[in-house]
Amino acid sequence: MSIQFDPQDKTITLHTRQTTYQMQISDTGHVLHLYYGRRIDGMCLDYLHILTDCGFSPNCYENRLRRQVSQDILPLEYSAAGCGDYRVPALECVSAQGITGADLRYVRHEITGGKYRLPGLPAAFAGEGEAQTLSLVLADQATGLEAELLYGVFEAADMITRAAVFHNRGKAAIRLDRASSLCLDIPFDGDWDLLHFHGRHCMERMPERVRLMHGIQSVSSRRGASSHHHNPFAVLMASDATRTQGACIGVMPVYSGNHRTDIEVNQANAIRVVSGLGGDLFSWQLEPGDSFHAPEVILCHTDGGLEDLTHRYHAFLNRHVIRSPWRDRVRPLLINSWEAMTCDFDAEKVLKFAGEAARLGVEMVVLDDGWFGTRDDDNAGLGDWWANEKKLPGGIRPLSDVIHGMGLKFGLWIEPEMVNENSDLYRAHPEWVLAVPGRKPVMARNQLVLDMGNPAVVAHLYGVFSALIRENGIDYIKWDMNRNIADAHSAALPPHRQLEASHRYMLGVYGLLDRLTGEFPEVLFENCAGGGGRFDAGMLYYTPQIWCSDDSDAIERLTIQAGTAVGYPVGTMGAHVSICPNQQTGRTVPFGTRAIVAMSGTFGYELDPAQLSEAEKRQMRVLAERYRRFYDVIHRGLYYQLADPGERGDFAAWAFVAADGGQALLNLVVTRTHANTHGIHLRLRGLDPEAQYRLAELIVEGCDRPDGEYLGGAGLEGRVFTGAGLMYAGLTLPPMRGDYPGVQLLLERMDAEAL
Ligand code: DGJ
Repeated sequence: MSIQFDPQDKTITLHTRQTTYQMQISDTGHVLHLYYGRRIDGMCLDYLHILTDCGFSPNCYENRLRRQVSQDILPLEYSAAGCGDYRVPALECVSAQGITGADLRYVRHEITGGKYRLPGLPAAFAGEGEAQTLSLVLADQATGLEAELLYGVFEAADMITRAAVFHNRGKAAIRLDRASSLCLDIPFDGDWDLLHFHGRHCMERMPERVRLMHGIQSVSSRRGASSHHHNPFAVLMASDATRTQGACIGVMPVYSGNHRTDIEVNQANAIRVVSGLGGDLFSWQLEPGDSFHAPEVILCHTDGGLEDLTHRYHAFLNRHVIRSPWRDRVRPLLINSWEAMTCDFDAEKVLKFAGEAARLGVEMVVLDDGWFGTRDDDNAGLGDWWANEKKLPGGIRPLSDVIHGMGLKFGLWIEPEMVNENSDLYRAHPEWVLAVPGRKPVMARNQLVLDMGNPAVVAHLYGVFSALIRENGIDYIKWDMNRNIADAHSAALPPHRQLEASHRYMLGVYGLLDRLTGEFPEVLFENCAGGGGRFDAGMLYYTPQIWCSDDSDAIERLTIQAGTAVGYPVGTMGAHVSICPNQQTGRTVPFGTRAIVAMSGTFGYELDPAQLSEAEKRQMRVLAERYRRFYDVIHRGLYYQLADPGERGDFAAWAFVAADGGQALLNLVVTRTHANTHGIHLRLRGLDPEAQYRLAELIVEGCDRPDGEYLGGAGLEGRVFTGAGLMYAGLTLPPMRGDYPGVQLLLERMDAEAL
């Protein structure tokens, strides 16, 4: 049993393969958090918490003569505002009678097989026997508010999911102002750092590691989307933890809207982490008898350093979060029209583009923005999801048929959540946008945001997009979202519910995604929000891949993809080879190097093949074949970031190692070339130390020395290496000349008989 209740010492213990999580019900009914860390069996850990009178830390009434027992100091499993715990609360609420906060005490708990579900929200799922659920109910007497804490314990995957459901069992309405799924108190045991992933449009998820300070620090978004700016993923790292060793705790909300993870270091140097919904853009009116589900958080602990945490999140998201059948399929090698033609195309141009691509090994053509309504640029048309007859006479179907006839799949771009003022939809339904009455709306990309919290809007969109997919033989959908929400005011909600608009928006988006992906499981959905503006576990539940960034420059992508891959599997990252000079940076990078980078994601193209040289076209054919050859090791292997440009400045290197250690693919890109350098030295990880490996393939791109000559200097050819040698002593590659040269090097374990 991975969840155990001990009636003697009143502990509830959750075990995963390598971790233990323990809590205890105290004599006052507070649920104390005792431990989360490396696995410990058969032990009550309540001795860890020394009771002291801290001064200015109050006591609950029952403890008025035991001043050393304060709810402000004790590690609590879940804590609300207004009851003498001054740390950052997991729950803030006020009842219609004016009662603020909640004094949450234990009521009951239940342990069941399987994984709980959250209606209307994305959440991890489990197969038979893969998870158990703990439901722990705390309640506040004064208001009748119940907080049901849900724990999904995935023993083999070493993960615990957390969610909270709030039930109003009282007689008056209760307004939730903060509703967190996770509250985690970590006692002081040395210094901890916070690793978070900030960014901007075209430079998402840049890791930043900072020492935790006393007080509250936050990772949050108020943009109505999980955002390019603050990804909903935070890692606490013991200050001595590194990539390969030490304690790390990951907190990953399964949510795509406004999120908030607060980390507080208190007077006792203890840490509290609270994650969920909150802040000035959230409240929820809970009428008597109603329940509210807060979005899930995926929690992970390891002592094996950041890399081990990464491996656990990758495996978990791949197995327990991504639902699409495409998760386990080789994704088609696609070409997307956006950087090649933006909105400037017609059927003839698209067919020429498709025909050329088909000859070069591409398997799917994606027609991006510009095919609908009056969409000649990004000022008009959003909302009018019928083909622009001037560009595509007869509509999408004839185009789709011809493209299918070429042996290609056909995909289409949509931006369901948005509308232009200059559209028939807006003219017919101005009340369907989020807008503040009496104020001119805040514009972005000259577009407005539809009120996805309004069921009429979602019903309309479902009708439009299900027909579009069904009637036109669509194989792939790129679901874009190109602005953040500013006027989160819904014409469909009464005044006292206006702060619900942002969360209702996300529920509407999830509802629409759920219906469409459920009805069309064979369609491959790719999420996008101006690149990676909603790269989160919530979206991955519906769409197995996400366009990683609108910055397609391969050198920029080294940073973006490495940051993204700390939490998210490489198979989720949309990555394309685009034209050079790159449209975002003006930089020129060798074609082959661009391909090495894009291949570490869902490989594709974002260019017009007609503009390529004959040599580049030949290379595309070679790459199509290489993509398939390396697919398994990249997408099913373990990912190791060996050197990133941020650390060394001169090159980035990363490897994929097959789970059984049988194959390893080393990838390397030189980001700064120097004269008189001494080679590139790397140590691999994840190999079988006892095994012998041979160099099965070496691909050198963009280096001014041909492959053979380059290798000649390395003395690697024909050599046999041991796994131990490659990991402990490493590998030295000769210096590379040229602009942004790159290498792919495939190592294969030798069979015993081949030795
Ligand atoms: C933003 C996306 O990230 C791009 O790839 C492209 O689809 C444009 N939107 C189209 O408007």
